[in-house]
This record gives sequence, structure tokens and C-alpha cells, in this order.
Amino acid sequence: MSKGNFYITTPIYYPSAKLHIGHTYCTVATDAMARYKRLQGYNVKFLTGTDEHGQKIEDKAKEAGCTPQQFVDDIVLGQGGVLDLWKLMNISYDRFIRTTDDYHVAAIQKIFKKMYDNGDIYKGKYAGKYCKPCESFWTESQLVDGKCPDCGREVQGTEEEAYFFRLSKYADRIQDLLENTDFLEPRSRVHEMVNNFIKPGLEDLCVSRTSFTWGVPVDFDEGHVVYVWIDALFNYMTALGFCNDKYDDLQAFWPADVHFVGKEIVRFHSIIWPAMLMSLDLPLPKKVFGHGWLLLDGGKMSKSKGNVVDPYILAERFGVDALRFFLLRSFPFGSDGNFSNELLISTINTDLANDLGNLVSRTVAMAQKYFGEKLPAQQVEDPELDAELVAMVSGLRDKYEEHMEHYAFQNALAEVFKVISRANKYIDENAPWVLAKREENKPRLARVLYNLLETVRVCAGLLIPFTPATSEEIAKRLGGAAMDWDSLNAFGVLPADVATLAGPALFPRIDMEKELAALEELSKPKSEIEIEPYAEEAVDFDTFCKSDFRAVKVKDCQPVKKSDKLLQFTLDDGTGTDRQILSGIAKFYKPEELIGKTLLAITNLPPRKMMGRESCGMLLSAIHTVKGEEKLNLVMLDDAIPAGAKLC
Ligand code: MSP
Repeated sequence: MSKGNFYITTPIYYPSAKLHIGHTYCTVATDAMARYKRLQGYNVKFLTGTDEHGQKIEDKAKEAGCTPQQFVDDIVLGQGGVLDLWKLMNISYDRFIRTTDDYHVAAIQKIFKKMYDNGDIYKGKYAGKYCKPCESFWTESQLVDGKCPDCGREVQGTEEEAYFFRLSKYADRIQDLLENTDFLEPRSRVHEMVNNFIKPGLEDLCVSRTSFTWGVPVDFDEGHVVYVWIDALFNYMTALGFCNDKYDDLQAFWPADVHFVGKEIVRFHSIIWPAMLMSLDLPLPKKVFGHGWLLLDGGKMSKSKGNVVDPYILAERFGVDALRFFLLRSFPFGSDGNFSNELLISTINTDLANDLGNLVSRTVAMAQKYFGEKLPAQQVEDPELDAELVAMVSGLRDKYEEHMEHYAFQNALAEVFKVISRANKYIDENAPWVLAKREENKPRLARVLYNLLETVRVCAGLLIPFTPATSEEIAKRLGGAAMDWDSLNAFGVLPADVATLAGPALFPRIDMEKELAALEELSKPKSEIEIEPYAEEAVDFDTFCKSDFRAVKVKDCQPVKKSDKLLQFTLDDGTGTDRQILSGIAKFYKPEELIGKTLLAITNLPPRKMMGRESCGMLLSAIHTVKGEEKLNLVMLDDAIPAGAKLC
């Protein structure tokens, strides 16, 4: 029986560049929450998607020489794109929205018109500052040192006819919402919003643009496109069927239970978004949670700074579950966290390889070694030795739940790992290898191993939201153990004669030094240009000196019939007799562009027949590849060098 519906969202991502580990962080957190709610028995709708309009995308597409639609299609659907990344990271979204989807575009036009009709959107003149990268308008007083208060970059002055949303009208209601309800968390973000944005005076918001076209057109006023944040924020509702017939889930899932958003977009979600919903008399989402950033060397990762961390590389080297786990185990969700490869590797080694991995492999290995496939049902408890572990395992789900309900992933995981450490200690306290020595201790030994397997079951079950594939694997190793929510609050769910299955190490230990060096190597910017490998074999000086290099002038150059490779050169080599050389470079040059040029030839190679014609020597060229495509340039000498001059 479902416990009810639960609707959770990530921000929709700008497909202006490939996504990095910072974007992955937010999506993995949302996925963990969605899986946790499913585990609890909720009917979850998890929405993610892409926010594809705006000037930034239009500009980038222009730079790339394609249409904006082609540009975003490539980043969303292309190889290594957004969909690929979410698949790789095992993101269990239920719906994916693209703001270029027809149903969404039509819905946004209706929404804009509704607010125009109810008087909350009106036409005026916009004079102010615009930050292109943030797609944000600012008034002079909001700028910090004349720059964008969000990203610190230059803003541009603009003046144009535009539509405005009466944000000022909702200032009091928004302040009340923020201060007197738990709509926005963590609480620290409330003070920031109220003090920085509401108290100085909320001004009406410019909600249309005429200076670019890549957006949702205002259908009743040609030339205007809808401000990208209106277009973007309403995705949370259009994806459920608001103002469209594509979906029909609004009744069941709106209002959203929680929007997870990064801290820099809390302003849009906690001020502009509820104000627009108020304007349309729609229920407000129950919660906006503003999470912190993953920082690199203390600063924000960004493509323009060139300091982004590639989730593909990390997932490939460490495994998807290890990466997911690290992101949520290492940083408190509401605050910023400093990413480093060292921290990633040490977290994997400590928690996953040493603590969890060892517990599983030691326990299963001992169960098999001492009892074969199944534990014997005859077991002896020792209340004194077992009580603490059993109590910790039995109380774990409630503690974990308390933290998860507050989005405190790190604390929830800390509780699980306290129990895992306790279980490892329990092994040492009970020394199964000593018990195994005497037949009469076997029933006690069986109970020790049972308690350990039961501990593993509960911990692995509670790890499902974080490491779904590993938890599934552990369930198999415990003979298909139950890991449903109710079973995770009880001790003694595994049958006494549980069958175990051995397997390889869940998380092999990583050699920190070697791995750091390998990651360093991988993070070096790769040139798109490839050159031929250098020759390993040395050539002795005398042999080299035998080669006769000469300047030659092209008197004539013709394509060779029936060959798409060869050009036939008639060359002045300074001897008074023309020299003929054939060269396979037709792909790179038109014959006429070479006539008159001074080239470099090696002239004392034995003559060769090519396509029935004789070639006396070879023209030298430079070769390399760019993005896998072969490039060739003939070596051209200064035309002042006379034909026949020897090069040495
Ligand atoms: N398109 C808007 C969101 C519209 S929602 C109606 C947007 N897109 S974004 O691609 O720039 O960012 C998406 C999310 O990724 C934001 O929540 C942002 O905070 C998050 N992150 C981007 N870099 C990040 C880190 N380095 N660390 C954590 N999260 C970061 O904003």
C-alpha cells in the first residue's frame, strides 16, 4: 500500500556545456531522496530536465556554427550528454522535461497570457543592467562594485520596451512565507533572502526580452520572448500537465514536496516562483531546499574557469556507487564542500573498502568456511555480547529516518557507518576463528555470524538510496535478503539457516599515490592535435648525411589520371634537366596552387614507378592529425633560395 504521493525535482540544467560533478551532486542527492521515499513506500515522481532557452544558448550556438536547437540537442541527447550522464549515474528520474518541448512552450504562452490578463504582467520600459551568463536583470542599487551580485561578472546596460511582473505586490506575502513557515531551508538562506532582496524593496521584474529570439515567443506581441526564468520555473508544473494535455498528474503531485536547488538560484525559487504562483492562485510547493556548492580549491567550478571535474572519469575509475556515496557522505548538503581527489579516494578506502566491504566479505567468507552454504539453525545467543549490536541495528532505521527527513544525508550515513564499525568490532570481540576450533562452540559461532549478516542486511538496505547497485549485490550475497522498509526496522528477519553467496571485493582498495598521479595525468588538457610518435631507432650521422636534400621549384603540376591520390610534379632542380616526382598529396592541394613554389625534395632515392610513371625522389611534407583527421603541408622554402641549393 502506497504511503501517498511524493513529488521531488532537481533544477533543470542549462545545456550550454557538458555537465560537471557539481551538477551531478545535486542530481545524485535528488535521486537518493527519491529512492529513499520509494523505499519508505511513497509513490514518487522525480522530475529533472533541461532549461534550453536564452541568450547564452543562442550565442553559444552561433559560436559553434549551428542552430540553437541543434546545439542543445547535442548536449542533451548526444554522446556523453545529459541523458547519458544520468543513465551512467543510475538516476531514477520518472520524467524528463526539455523547455523546448512543444507542450511546454505552448503552456508557457498560456501562463504568460494569464498573468497579463489578470494585470500582474504589464508593458513598460526596461532600463537597467543585465548579466548574460546568469540571465538576470539587476537595478543599479543591486550591483556589487558595478558587477553582477551573483557571479561578479560585468553587466550590460540595456533599455527596451518590455513586460514586467508585479513582484513588488507580493513582497509582504513572500516575507511572511519565508519568515513564518519552513518553506525555505536551511534557515540561513531565509535571512539572506529577506535581508538582501526583500528588505531593500522588491522591484517589479522584467519578464520579456526583444534583443534575442531563442525563447518562448509572447504570442500576443511579436518580437518579445518570455524571460527564461518564467519559462524555466513553470517546468515543475507543465511537466505534470499544467496548461497542457500531455500529462495528467497535477492533481496527484502538485504541490511539490520539495525542490532541491543550488544556493545561487534560491532567490528565483523562494521569491519569484512563489510570487508567480500566488498571482495565479496556485498552491505553493511545500519546500525549497537550497544546497551548497561543491568547490574546487575553495572556488566555484565553472567551465569558463576551466576547473570542472568530469564525473565520467571518476565514475569510470571508482564506480558509480562509490562516487554517489562520496558526494553525499563527505559534505553536509546545506553547506559548501571542498572537492578533492584525495578526499574521494580516502572516503572510498575508509568507508567502502575497509568498513563496509570488509564486513561483508569477512562475514560471508566465515559463514562459508565454517558452515558451508547455509548457517545451521541451531544457534546460541549471548545477551551480554550481543545486546549492544542488536540494539544499535534495531534502532538504526529511526535515527536514519530522522536525518533523511531533514535532507541530512551525511548524518544519516554517519549513523549507518557507526553500526558498521560496531559490527567490525563485534567480530574482534567474538573472535569467530577461536569459536570455530571447538565443536561445542559451533551454535554460538552460528549466532555470531547470523548477527553479523543481519547487521549487513539492515545497513545495506538503508544504503539503497546511495549505493543502489551495491545494496542489490549484497542482498544476493545474503541469499536474497529482504530489504523493504518494514524489514529494516527489525532484527531477525533473515532465516536462521540463511544461505550466503561469496563474491569479489565490493570496493577494492585504491592505491592513493598511484591513483592521484593517474588522475593528474587525465586532467591535463588534451590537445586536439596529434603528432606521429618519434622514431625509437637512432640513425647514425654518416647514413643521415648520405641523404641529398635539395630545393626544387615547381615548373608544372598535374593530376594523374585514374588516381585520386597522386600529383605529378615537373621540377627545376638546378641541373638544367627537369626532374619528375610523383607525390600522393592530391587530397591536400590543387595542382595550380603549387606552381612556382619552392619545395624540399630528397633526390637520391632510387627511382620508383607509380601508375606507370617514374618518380625520381620524394617531396617532404609535415603531417599531423586534428581531431582524428589527417593534415599535410608540403615543406615550402623561401622563394629566394635557388633551385638545386643543397640543404644540410
Ligand atoms: N537552469 C537553471 C535552473 C532552472 S530551475 C527552474 C540553472 N541551471 S544550471 O545548469 O546552471 O545549474 C543547475 C544546478 O546545478 C543549480 O542548482 C546549481 O546550483 C547546480 N550546480 C552547478 N554547479 C554546482 C556546484 N559546483 N556545486 C553544486 N551545485 C552546483 O541554474
